[in-house]
Parts: sequence; structure tokens; C-alpha cells
Amino acid sequence: IPVDDFDLVIFGGTGDLARRKILPGLYRRFCAGQMPETARIIGAARSEHDTEEFRQLVRDAIREFSTKNTCDEGQIGAFLERLDYVQVDARGSDGWDALKEMMRDGVVKAYYFSVAPSLFGDIAERLQSYGIADESARIVVEKPFGRDLDSAKKLNADLAKHFDETQIYRIDHYLGKETVQNLMAVRFGNILFEPLWNSQYVDHIQITVAETVGVGGRGEYYDRSGAMRDMVQNHLMQLLCLIAMEPPSRFDPDAVRDEKLKVIRALEPVDHHSIVRGQYEATATEPSYREDAGDPRSTTESFIALRCMISNWRWAGTPFFLRTGKKLKARTSEIAVMFKDAPHSIFGEEAGRHANVLSIRLQPNEGMTLKVTIKEPGPGGMRLVDVPLDMSFAEALGDDAEEITDAYERLIMDVIRGNQTLFMRGDEVEAAWAWTDPLIESWEKRGDMPKAYEAYSSGPEEAAMMLHREGRRWREIKE
Ligand code: BG6
Repeated sequence: IPVDDFDLVIFGGTGDLARRKILPGLYRRFCAGQMPETARIIGAARSEHDTEEFRQLVRDAIREFSTKNTCDEGQIGAFLERLDYVQVDARGSDGWDALKEMMRDGVVKAYYFSVAPSLFGDIAERLQSYGIADESARIVVEKPFGRDLDSAKKLNADLAKHFDETQIYRIDHYLGKETVQNLMAVRFGNILFEPLWNSQYVDHIQITVAETVGVGGRGEYYDRSGAMRDMVQNHLMQLLCLIAMEPPSRFDPDAVRDEKLKVIRALEPVDHHSIVRGQYEATATEPSYREDAGDPRSTTESFIALRCMISNWRWAGTPFFLRTGKKLKARTSEIAVMFKDAPHSIFGEEAGRHANVLSIRLQPNEGMTLKVTIKEPGPGGMRLVDVPLDMSFAEALGDDAEEITDAYERLIMDVIRGNQTLFMRGDEVEAAWAWTDPLIESWEKRGDMPKAYEAYSSGPEEAAMMLHREGRRWREIKE
């Protein structure tokens, strides 16, 4: 179903994110028939281009970054017709009147700030002072949304001067991933899981986001952030919220975000014995983290593992283990709910201990697996084995499964629809920083050094030890 007619302006329209994700994503929605006939996309940036040059740049971007088989030249041509370009100076006066001229009345207006956060305030101000944005206009902003609580508050305040919270869409692209939304469908659409979803039945939860790439190419940005700011404060935190939150009364923006916020506020501070940070080492042919970062003494982490506790009735006593890193063994993201053993084994000790595990795979191969215990087939008596009840979305839904939509495509369409459910509210972002800040301060104050780990391994030994100490172990990192 097509969305309402819209004018979407992308500030930073020639930049990396626009070329990699936003524009190819919009192109795919166009191919899927979701873009109304007259909808327009306006690239806005500082560089001097005419519309033709911009269209050429977008054509190249689609060819390079559209992974799916959708690069039909005719379609691309038709899509490019929707594109315009305007040169604007975010800090000056050039181009703003021209942009105002281009915007149509009576359609949804959305402004994507795909620029450095230091420009958010300037752009927001000009959208208002030049009379470009009306009350129903929407603005979309991207991480990094601050680097600590103070800077996040300042960004929120800068935007709040010109836009109401209901107009601000803060993207965390993890919330746009298919399986992340499925997690909510599974939790709240079935009666099976929710009664067991608490510390009485759940031993612990593991959230892993492992990548095989290093930070080469963006070492400078990354070295100022590290895994905690780059991944945990936002993406892993969002996953944790969706897993741990109470059922919202409705699937609507504030009902969902209120529940997520309660989880973040209930997170206990993490002491330093429950945090392991790491940096990948060089291989024979590839540089080490420190070489990629361009700082031989860097203390920034390219890997982090944490043991988090949530202080509320549902989760007291159930640890949440979070882990993410670069140059690990495989690219895989999953959430695993590790249930407790059955309280008593009627089959005797020799049948062994078996526990159910629900694993939710975000990527690759989106799907869920529930590990259950059954009798080993054959006449050999009552021997138990664990088998997966497997549900790969692509397989289970067969031809009905629409190609799994990329996170950005989905989220941009939600902006046009005016649905904020999958976007972070300002207070959520601030609460996440309020939890993160003291952890970072504490390791900085102690002069903590990240542990070296072998590239393409599972991370530092110490991360394994952290779980081992309490008789638990990480799930294997594998595709
Ligand atoms: C980004 C981080 O937000 O997410 C990157 O800045 C990271 O460092 C990326 O690689 C991971 O996203 P995805 O969708 O590839 O898992």
C-alpha cells in the first residue's frame, strides 16, 4: 500500500549514509510500489551539484549498494525522476529560500538530518526561521546522539527549541530489523512465552552482536567512541529493552517507549568486575586495532562484554550478558533466552541436565529456534537429546515472505506514516546515557586497559572467564 504523498529532504544527501542506506532503501520501496506517483526526494548538501549530477550519484549508489536483485535500469530511471538537488549552507543563508520554494503544500514533509550532530541545531533553526517546516513536519536524526548525558541533553534541547517531540524521529536502525519486531510479536502475540518470561524460569539472557569487520576506514570516529558508545548505549540497549520490558497496553509509540524507559531506569550500575573490554590484535596481513585507530596507545575498546542486572520484580536475579565486538569469528547477532533446568529429573542423573533455549537471530538468516528436549529415537531406553524447533522466517513463510525489508527502508516509511513506535524518545536516549556515563568514567578513572584478543576469535579470554566464574558459558559465535 503506498504511503501518503511526501517531500523528503535529505540533508547530507551526498554523504556516506545517504549513498549506502537511505537512497538505495528508498529506491527499493519505490520498486515495491510504496512510493506515491508524485512523491519527491530532495538531496541537500553543501557541495555544488545540479540535479543531473545528483541523480547520477544516486544511480551509482543504487548499483553499488542495492544488494538485492532490483537494479533494473528502467526502474532506476523512473526513480531518479523523483529526485532534486539543492545546495544549502547549514551554517549560513545560502540555499534556504530555494529549498522553501521547492517544498509543496499539502503533502507530508520530512527532513532527514544525515549530517554531523553538531549541525542539528543549525538546520533545525533554519527550517523554522525560513518558514520551511510546518507543524506537521517531521525531522529524522541519526546516532551518534551525543557522546554522554550532557551532550545528548544539549542536542535534545536544541531540537526542542524548534520542534515538538512528536515531530522528532531518532533512528536506531536495530529497531527496524525484521526480527526485532518479530521479537515483540512472539512475546506478546503468543501465550506460550510470557508466563515463563521472568527470573523464576529464565536463568540468564545473552545478547550478542558480533561483527567480522574491523574499524579500518573509520578508525578516527570509532576511536573516540568505542564499542560501548557505538553499540551498547544504543543498539544493544534497545534489544535489552524489548526483551525485558513489561507488556505495553497497546502497540503504540508512547505505550511502548514508556515501558522501555522503565527498563533502562531499572538497570543497576555495573561494577568493573562485570565488564571486559578488548582490542583486536594484528594478523599476518591485517593491522591491529591500534593501527586502524591510528593511535599506538589507544585505550578504546573494539570489544565489550558486560553483565547487567535489572532491579525489578520480573528480573531480579537474572543476569543479562551483553557482548559486541569487531573482528570476531563470525557476523552474527542473536538474543538467547536461556531457561532454567527442569526442577527435577524423573529420568535420573544419567539422562543429564537439559534446559530450553529460545534463540532469536537478527542476522544473518533471520529466525528463531527453540531448543527442546526429546527422547533419542530407537530402542536404547530413555535417553534424552536436545533438538531445535527451528523457524527460519524465509523458509516458514515461503513465497509469502516479502523480501526481508532493510531496517532503513522500513523506518523511513514509518516516518512518512507518522509512526514513532520504532524510534527513540528523547528521555530514553538520556536515560541510556545516564546509565552508560558512570561505567565509562569509572574505567577511564582507573586507567583500565582493554585486553588484547586474537582477530577473528570470540574475544578476550577474560570475557569467557566472566561467565565461567558463575558456571555459565557464552553461546558460540557462528553464522
Ligand atoms: C552502526 C555502528 O551503528 O552499526 C557500526 O556505528 C556497526 O560500528 C553497525 O558496524 C552495525 O550495523 P548492522 O546493521 O550491520 O548490524
